[in-house]
Order: sequence, then C-alpha cells, then structure tokens
Amino acid sequence: MGRILGEKEIIAIGGGKGGVGKSFLASNLGILLAKSKKSTVLIDADLGGANLHTCLGVNPPDITLSDFVNNSHIRIEDVVLRTSLENLSLISGAHDILGIANPKYSQKLRLFKAIESLDVEYVILDLGAGTNNNTLDFFLLADKGVLVVLPEPTSIENAYRFIKSSLYRKLKLLTNEPHVRMVIEKAMDRKNNLGIRSPVELVEHISRLDSRVGNQLEEAMSSFRPRIVLNQVRSLSDIRMGYSMQNACEKFFGLRVDFLGYLESDDQVWQSIRKRQPITLNGEHGKSARNLRTINYNLMNNLQMKPE
Ligand SMILES: Nc1ncnc2c1ncn2[C@@H]1O[C@H](COP(=O)(O)OP(=O)(O)O)[C@@H](O)[C@H]1O
Ligand SMILES: [Mg+2]
Repeated sequence: MGRILGEKEIIAIGGGKGGVGKSFLASNLGILLAKSKKSTVLIDADLGGANLHTCLGVNPPDITLSDFVNNSHIRIEDVVLRTSLENLSLISGAHDILGIANPKYSQKLRLFKAIESLDVEYVILDLGAGTNNNTLDFFLLADKGVLVVLPEPTSIENAYRFIKSSLYRKLKLLTNEPHVRMVIEKAMDRKNNLGIRSPVELVEHISRLDSRVGNQLEEAMSSFRPRIVLNQVRSLSDIRMGYSMQNACEKFFGLRVDFLGYLESDDQVWQSIRKRQPITLNGEHGKSARNLRTINYNLMNNLQMKPE
C-alpha cells in the first residue's frame, strides 16, 4: 500500500509503571523503523521525567516540547531535532517539570493537532508513568497503544488499571450526555452502587438508558485494541503471562488485547544505556535485538504472538 500524503501512524508506548522499559522500547522501535527507511519522529511525552534523549545517546537539547507548549509562536517543526540516524528525529521532553507537566486544555489540543500534522510516516510517543489524564490522552491519540509490562504482580496490576482507565476515558470523551458521563465515572469505582463490574456491563447499562449512545460505545470498545509487550522475562512461565493477560482482558474486560512479544532480561540492555549506544543501532545480533525485531514486526503487521 502506498502512503497517502499526510497519512501516518501514531504509536504510543505506555505501561502505567516507571522503570519498566518504555523509553528503551520506544527508542529502539524508532531506530528499527528509521533503519527500514520509514521517516520517524520520537516524541518524549513523559511530561515530568523526560529522558528519551539519553536512551538515544543525544545530549540534553536546548529546545524541547515545553518551548512549543509555552510559546504559541514556536511551530512543532522548530522543536524537531535531527539524530545521528537518517530518517529518525526527536522531539525532546520538558526539563522543567513545572513548565508543562500540567498543560492547559487548549495547550494540549494545540499539541495534539501539531503531532497529527507532522510530516513523517511514524510518530512514536514515549509516555510517562501513571494513569493521569494527560498520559491517557496521549495513549488515546495513538493509532496503536503498546503497554510495557514486567512479569510481576505490581506491574501487571498497573497494566490492567491502565487499560481500564484509558478505555473508560475513551468512552467518556465520546459523549456529552451528562448522565452517561456520570455513569462512566461511577463505573470507574469497582465498588459502584450501579452493580457495574466490567466495561461490558457498563456498555449494557448505558444501552438500556440510551441505545444510540450504547451502540457508539460498543463500537468504540471493539476498536480499542491495546498491545502488550512483556519485558525482562526470565523463563517460559514469564512468557506465558502474556497469553494469560490476553485471556484475562478478553474474559473480564471483553477486550481484544494483542500480545506482541517479549524482551528477555539482558545485560546488554543496561550496558547499552550506560554506553548511550542503543542496542539496535548497529545491527546487533544479540537476543534483545532479535526480540525487538519480532515486536516491531508484529506491531507493524497487526499480528500477535502465536499461542504455543
Ligand atoms: N530487557 C531488559 N534487560 C535488562 N535491563 C533492562 C531491560 N529493559 C529495561 N532495562 C533496564 O531498565 C531501566 C529502565 O528502563 P526505561 O526504558 O528507562 O524505563 P521507563 O521508560 O519505563 O521508565 C533501563 O535503564 C535498563 O537498565
Ligand atoms: Mg521513560
């Protein structure tokens, strides 16, 4: 398929938890895409703790996303930095935490429009930790949202919370009906008095109130398809977590979630970050480079890991 002018794919890398490997995955996916001749821009959307430049081995830049957000005369193109790799550019995140950690609604809209207008084939958003609305909105802006998860109860729990929060936010933003919005807000609390225990039950409940809105929400739910990447796996049973998460999302949320692949725990990863030399930059043959290629392939082709 040829590229229609201005058409691009926005990919968000989130996960709800800090230190799980979001920036590592985002930077290496960017490098892989750029190496396959796709023009790609990496955006550090971690508005509180930007460090994507470090993962790419780039010095802290003078001009960042905060300059764009805080100054309406600065265009998004002005904050796009070149990297050492052809086809790969970077929009660095804010250093000044107070600067844009909490952008105004109008600033956020302007930023989202600007991201959609970038003249590239791929945009990769490296998200911050947590499930605040800004992070969720970046995730929902993307055509494809990826969650990085460690095979540990805390990380898995965070990932489920992230999936549920972003789905409910997506549904809430779809409608202006105050009573529907109120039901969605109530449903966020697991112990709500409406007896709604899952997104499927939420949509059923709303369909009974207003069948038109119900249909809309149902459609939004079926197009919501988060992806999962397991990081730091050490055993076969760690890898199986990916499949169990997939099944659990289907069963409890009524959602299709794609398990894209896993990254083995690999000393070369932290060494590469210390050396500021991304692992996929030099056509590395190690296991992480191989893992990353599988993830990238599945992501690009809308595939998932084949069940064992
Ligand atoms: N597969 C891996 N094997 C070994 N260490 C890893 C792996 N993935 C990530 N790390 C380590 O975890 C640290 C945090 O990764 P980072 O991408 O900065 O997380 P996040 O962006 O989610 O906060 C990295 O500095 C690296 O040392
Ligand atoms: Mg990060």
